[in-house]
Amino acid sequence: MSRTVRISQSTWLAEGVVRLELRDPAGAALPAWEPGAHLSLHLPNGLTREYSLCGDPADEHTWTVAVLREPSSRGGSAWVHERLTPGTLIEADGPRNNFALEDAPRHLLIAGGIGITPLLAMATSLQRRDADWSMLYCGRSRSSMAFLGDLPADRVRVHADDERGGPPDLAAELAHLEPGTLVYCCGPEPLIAAVEAALPDTGMLRVERFRAPAVAPATADAGFDVVCGGSGRRVPVPAGVSILDALAGAGVAVPSSCREGVCGTCETKVLAGEPEHRDFLLSDDEKTAGGTMLICVSRSRSAELVLDVED
Ligand code: FES
Repeated sequence: MSRTVRISQSTWLAEGVVRLELRDPAGAALPAWEPGAHLSLHLPNGLTREYSLCGDPADEHTWTVAVLREPSSRGGSAWVHERLTPGTLIEADGPRNNFALEDAPRHLLIAGGIGITPLLAMATSLQRRDADWSMLYCGRSRSSMAFLGDLPADRVRVHADDERGGPPDLAAELAHLEPGTLVYCCGPEPLIAAVEAALPDTGMLRVERFRAPAVAPATADAGFDVVCGGSGRRVPVPAGVSILDALAGAGVAVPSSCREGVCGTCETKVLAGEPEHRDFLLSDDEKTAGGTMLICVSRSRSAELVLDVED
């Protein structure tokens, strides 16, 4: 459910990174969240953007996000940097958590650039419970890396490319992980791909992506029908058109944000039919169970899909 929040503070953290504190306009407590959770901010320019919560989960009156101004901004981060000044009101959805911190004997957190944001909250939580954890924090240069001063030096290794002559050798870094280590990684796609390639078993890896990786779909698009579970109304989904867009064209609005299968905003319950999952968020188990699908990218293997959407 969306709520109005007020920007209470804006602080420059690092090159191109601004930290924003959000509070309820009347001072009420905000919904609780766990490390790994993110907010969707509905920008007045019509865009929706997800930002990981990076403050203290124990602070029930403040949500904190840190936003990198993307050089190739499509209007999201540039707008946030230029217009979200203290006192501004904005609509926010969430918190939603697709990247929850699971219990494990030990945790390794691998952050790339602004990917530090969800991992900072995890580090705070793990440190508070005296858990066995460490972090590898990678970035172009220290001046571009937010929160460096907030991380315990005995747990965190910083890898600045400009000091080390390039990105880290992740195969060497991950060659001798202790059994039971759960690895959390957030950052740009090349970093995630390198971590995936270096680990012997991706079952020990949890990732959060900013953008979908560039991969060709396993099968060519074909048309099918979606049936709205409530009314029984049938909506054709032609080849090359997403379920989300086909439904929107028929006047059936489903909330969406990334439209790349990475944020989870459009997750929709499947009542019948066989989805063809093309997202980068649901686990293999969730895909096999087939209870939900992300309709901005996923399609159908069956001639019709019955979805739990209101007509
Ligand atoms: S809109 Fe983000 S996963 Fe569909």
